Amino acid sequence: MPVQDLREWIGRIEEMGELTRIEGADPNLEIGGLTDLYQWDMENPALLFEKIKGHPESYRLLSNVLTSLPRICLSLDLPTHLTRQEFVKTWRDRLKEFTPIAPRQVEDGPVLDNRQVDADVDVTQFPAPFWHAEDGGNFLGTGNIVIMRDPDTGWVNAGTYRVQVHDSKTLGIMISPGKHGRLIREKYWAKGEACPVAVSFGQDPLLLLLGGLEVDYGEDEFAMAGGLRHEPLDVGAPGRRRSSSRARYRRTSSTRRGRSASGRATTRAASATCPSST
Ligand SMILES: Cc1cc2nc3c(=O)[nH]c(=O)nc-3n(C[C@H](O)[C@H](O)[C@H](O)COP(=O)(O)O)c2cc1C
Repeated sequence: MPVQDLREWIGRIEEMGELTRIEGADPNLEIGGLTDLYQWDMENPALLFEKIKGHPESYRLLSNVLTSLPRICLSLDLPTHLTRQEFVKTWRDRLKEFTPIAPRQVEDGPVLDNRQVDADVDVTQFPAPFWHAEDGGNFLGTGNIVIMRDPDTGWVNAGTYRVQVHDSKTLGIMISPGKHGRLIREKYWAKGEACPVAVSFGQDPLLLLLGGLEVDYGEDEFAMAGGLRHEPLDVGAPGRRRSSSRARYRRTSSTRRGRSASGRATTRAASATCPSST
């Protein structure tokens, strides 16, 4: 049975002895430092930070997610006891019979249980570590996926791009030249339009794995995830519970003037969901 969400994934890896819980860590360099120590070598456990300094007790942060073969296998819905050679053979066999399965649109889901809309939005309530001493700020998104729709074809891309907190209602997304999210963004901006985005910070790790892979332009990561787990992924097409406004990705004054080589832009977080497990 494939993993259904991040909460279930955390439970399953804990049963496998692949999780270490850490209480009371400081988002300022301590979470980043500990994560660096653990991610240096493969097969170290994932880290679940709890009771994070300066944040409500129930807010948790997971790091070092996909750095062990058993955890990668679990995420790909493969047996979790494979050796490296067995994994390569099993993966090759899996790719031979691989067929994408389109996602299933649903109207509702637990992701909509906790919401902040418009003036209530405060993204600073979530633990966003200052990961490394030379970082330019606090990053809420490192193992996230950024979801954007091609305005010409309707194709939806999911890519892993860093997300920085600028203030309670503003996030920046760093997309390198040539990445699909960047190409999509340019299409909107060429028409003088803001680019709509959704960012997920607490998804099934299979989507993180696919979001960080170079998948061909036009390939649907959600359909690939469905094919890998042999059942469609539920994606939200919220109807009556949809928030009144959505996030837009727009040029900063510096990118408008062509001063930002990094392609930084800001997302005005007009609505944000608050998953309690991340
Ligand atoms: C943890 C992680 C963080 C990443 N951060 C960024 C980033 O900040 N900006 C970026 O352009 N690519 C980043 N990448 C690389 C992209 O996710 C990767 O190139 C991916 O293929 C992009 O998706 P796309 O092919 O749909 O553009 C990151 C990858 C990983 C695994």
